[in-house]
Amino acid sequence: MSDSIILGIESSCDDTSAAVLKGNKILSNIAANQEIHKEYGGVVPELASRAHQQNIIPVVDKAFSKANIQQKDISAIGFTRGPGLLGSLLVGTSFAKSLAMSLSVPLIEVNHLQAHILAHFIEDANPKAPNFPFLCLTVSGGHTMIVLVKDYFDMEIIGKTIDDAAGEAFDKIGKIFGLDYPAGPIIDKLSKNGNENSFKFNKPKLDHFNYSFSGIKTSVLYFIQKEVRKNPDFIKENIDDLCASVQKTIVEILMDKLEKAAIDLNIKEIAIAGGVSANSGLREAIQKNSERLGWNIYIPKFEYTTDNAAMIAMVAKLKFDRGEFADLSISATARYDI
Ligand code: KG4
Ligand code: ZN
Repeated sequence: MSDSIILGIESSCDDTSAAVLKGNKILSNIAANQEIHKEYGGVVPELASRAHQQNIIPVVDKAFSKANIQQKDISAIGFTRGPGLLGSLLVGTSFAKSLAMSLSVPLIEVNHLQAHILAHFIEDANPKAPNFPFLCLTVSGGHTMIVLVKDYFDMEIIGKTIDDAAGEAFDKIGKIFGLDYPAGPIIDKLSKNGNENSFKFNKPKLDHFNYSFSGIKTSVLYFIQKEVRKNPDFIKENIDDLCASVQKTIVEILMDKLEKAAIDLNIKEIAIAGGVSANSGLREAIQKNSERLGWNIYIPKFEYTTDNAAMIAMVAKLKFDRGEFADLSISATARYDI
């Protein structure tokens, strides 16, 4: 294992992040969140890209100083090439290219989704890294999929959402409740004081290991419209129970298909990744299943679940060890399969 020092850069959505990885150990993982999107109830691509431009230099500087590493000591630079918002990706990509050129170090392109999954291999992400093959429920604001991970760079999507992502469902339903963006963590927090059996929402019936989350959003919307007509304070009076019931339903939808996939493929190594894997209801549910079904579960440390550059640096390190470098003509791409 090389003791390379890698700078990772992430800018695919609304978090500008930089991290320094030495060997498999994260020395720094800095992120600047973009508060500006709260006013709009969702990410505004043009504002995101402008905020990345303002944040990137201070964030990278901070990552170097926290790691106590000088720019001249790094072995390579890894950056998120996609998938994500093109304008946002371009900022990280151009910055990574320029810095690689000025320092004369290799450039390594990273797929953001692979990075969420491979974050499990960061030294302190888990007490133990998953064994291949494992199933990874990858749940974020933009993606919801069950991935069969056969090796570091040999992954197969065996099921995915046909409409909204799970994180998007949390955020859109939160918006109906009048909560700030992103609503996922707020719903999680309010759920702790609520009764999850207060309200029932529809669950989709889909073939295979696919998901759908637009139905629950619509069913919540119609239910709320009806109740608010009768009692304008309905949301305020029931917010904790509403959140707990929504969270329970989303977690059940996610877990039903994951359990089916694990049984069908006879795999007991089960991991979760992506922003929604920070959700306490999902973490509890996967823990319960591990006891009931004998799963070995892998839940990454909180800071490696939502968008971060540590996971980008980790993938870059794996590619660095394989000698897989990008040349300076590489460009960002909004769509990028794993
Ligand atoms: O992976 P991520 O940071 O960015 C994307 O690549 O999308 O995921 C962000 C998503 C948002 O939809 C956010 O609401 C959701 O993850 N999220 C959560 C929690 N923390 C973040 N959803 C539910 N419960 C949480 N605790
Ligand atoms: Zn992400």
